Amino acid sequence: PAGGLGLEVVGIVNKLQDVFAAVGASASAIDLPQICVLGSQSSGKSSVLENIVGRDFLPRGNGIVTRRPLILQLVNRPATSKPQTNGDAKPDLVPSKDHHQNVDEWGEFLHVPGQKFYDFTKIREEIVRDTEVKTGRNAGISPVPINLRIYSPNVLTLTLVDLPGLTKVPVGDQPKDIERQIRDMVMKYIAKPNALILAVTAANTDLANSDGLKLAREVDPEGTRTIGVLTKVDLMDQGTDVIDILAGRVIPLRLGYVPVVNRGQRDIDQQKPIAAALEFERRFFENHPAYSSKAAFCGTPFLARRLNTILMHHIRSALPDMKMRIQQQLQKYNAELIQLGGAHGQENSGNIVLSVITEFCTGFRTVIDGNTNDLSVNE
Ligand code: GDP
Ligand code: NA
Ligand code: MG
Repeated sequence: PAGGLGLEVVGIVNKLQDVFAAVGASASAIDLPQICVLGSQSSGKSSVLENIVGRDFLPRGNGIVTRRPLILQLVNRPATSKPQTNGDAKPDLVPSKDHHQNVDEWGEFLHVPGQKFYDFTKIREEIVRDTEVKTGRNAGISPVPINLRIYSPNVLTLTLVDLPGLTKVPVGDQPKDIERQIRDMVMKYIAKPNALILAVTAANTDLANSDGLKLAREVDPEGTRTIGVLTKVDLMDQGTDVIDILAGRVIPLRLGYVPVVNRGQRDIDQQKPIAAALEFERRFFENHPAYSSKAAFCGTPFLARRLNTILMHHIRSALPDMKMRIQQQLQKYNAELIQLGGAHGQENSGNIVLSVITEFCTGFRTVIDGNTNDLSVNE
């Protein structure tokens, strides 16, 4: 899909996972970071996540829409490209005629075991439904997460977390200490050293007041895992722009800022497709006098590439440890085989796996090194 995370890193992670599967190590050996969105209510967090995934499925809108954490596990799964048979499917799970629909892409909720949701609109409806079950309809919140898995050949096996926005004044059924409750809820996710923080701030608000940036700084003072995202650049007053922020002259961030334009409320109401939104975003930056010379470093596709690059670096730094763990596992495996009574052939196959990994790591470094140009631009 348009905006999604690049297929190159998908391919690399897949190969690694194949190798791990071959030696019986779990896929979690590739300790990929969780990507968490952080920011004020209605700053555009859900919109940003959705654009990164490249599919429409998250509830978005003005006011408090995301009222429970959503833990979204993307699982890469190769296409089987079998013909579609819906003979015995339940009515609400039958894929509609939507041309985005694909039998190889579906969602599953932890709280709805055994049901595959092929229709992404139904996924959104289920998120809304289960949010209301746990929190009521009147703006209540809950720290109990919704767990959703999306299987697709087009995603990177990775976890994204959509979080309620930081807010100050209780409305509806919200508790008096709503500010602290949401803060605590969000903290649990962003404090993990393995969390990559997308600190979202609407460009039509003052960066110095950004609650997201403030909180990100508390858990990541060095700024090694915080990326600034500036939304609503299209809603800024005439004659103002985010150039000073991008240049690091306002609140510098080590990993920099990426400005984006998501769909506005009207686009949501009119169900503007993601592809059209990305096209609008591209034209916006290319034609804007302040951004046209930097359009390559603006927008959702660039943000996705930045995330890719950061993930690649993360994998690279994790490789030596992975290799060591596999080596240990192989030694243990061979020792067990010898105890069982001399399986010389098996010992050989272990060595083959190890040499595949060694070869792979070398190849991987070449890919990474070819990719680092990407990073240097913004740093
Ligand atoms: P969240 O509360 O941070 O998850 O924000 P949402 O993604 O739900 O968006 C809140 C509102 O802001 C929705 O009405 C969106 O349509 C709107 N919105 C988000 N990003 C942008 C943007 O870049 N431009 C415009 N015009 N509207 C946006
Ligand atoms: Na909102
Ligand atoms: Mg939201």
